[in-house]
Amino acid sequence: MKRLEGKSALITGSARGIGRAFAEAYVAEGAIVAIADINLERAQQTASQIGSSAYAVEMDVTDQVSIDAAIAAVVVKTGGLDILVNNAALFDLAPIVEITRKSFDTLFSINVAGALFTMQAAAKQMIAQGRGGKIINMASQAGRRGEPLVAVYCATKAAVISFTQSAGLDLIKHGINVNGIAPGVVDSEMWDQVDALFAKYENRPLGEKRRLVGEAVPYGRMGQAEDLCGMAIFLASSESNYIVSQTYNVDGGNWMS
Ligand SMILES: NC(=O)c1ccc[n+]([C@@H]2O[C@H](COP(=O)([O-])OP(=O)(O)OC[C@H]3O[C@@H](n4cnc5c(N)ncnc54)[C@H](O)[C@@H]3O)[C@@H](O)[C@H]2O)c1
Repeated sequence: MKRLEGKSALITGSARGIGRAFAEAYVAEGAIVAIADINLERAQQTASQIGSSAYAVEMDVTDQVSIDAAIAAVVVKTGGLDILVNNAALFDLAPIVEITRKSFDTLFSINVAGALFTMQAAAKQMIAQGRGGKIINMASQAGRRGEPLVAVYCATKAAVISFTQSAGLDLIKHGINVNGIAPGVVDSEMWDQVDALFAKYENRPLGEKRRLVGEAVPYGRMGQAEDLCGMAIFLASSESNYIVSQTYNVDGGNWMS
């Protein structure tokens, strides 16, 4: 028996990277998945590669009209919404004295407000349906502690962990589980940008930071998106019904609480 048979899922930022791997894993478990991304062309390409149980939806998580339209499109397509993964996020990096208002506003509007108001819209739909639901927020090891160059991104991910706690406590009375995943370092396209920024600010050759963070993982290598799929399926399935407001580290041993 597939673990997500017939479930309707929406994954933000799933045109590529971790979100795309989750979409493939959910489809393999029987779900119908909206590849919801600001990059519609790539979302369409990804959906067509995954197959007929995936479809593309244009969605900008910083725009309430776009959030509401994406949820409405899922309901029209599949008759409801059972699973939301808040995965879309941006990274940036700068020393404290160089952080700009623009970087702060952009990261908080996507990583924090985007996740909160997408969660809100999904919860309204799930409450109206009356059959519960699953919401999974993508946090990060960056949300567990600060890092000298990564203050803003770290703060956004700490906020995601906190919103996961509060929303989980509020929504469980409707049978909606809100939980999170905190990856460590995952070898996605996001790391092209992360590596280039570390190269600039730590005066390193390109590729060195990526190699070093991989070597430092207790498991012995960087994560791959597929390493996170087991937790993403578990938190979307009925096996996690009694789990509320938790954020799980899936990071090869990088972080211990
Ligand atoms: N890669 C890592 O090392 C790592 C580590 C810890 C946590 N994470 C988290 O995992 C999640 C996925 O990371 P990834 O590495 O796959 O990222 P990625 O950059 O490869 O993909 C992000 C996706 O989000 C989309 N997106 C950007 N802005 C958007 C918006 N406003 N509305 C909708 N979609 C938008 C992009 O088009 C892209 O497809 C993120 O929340 C990230 O913070 C990643």
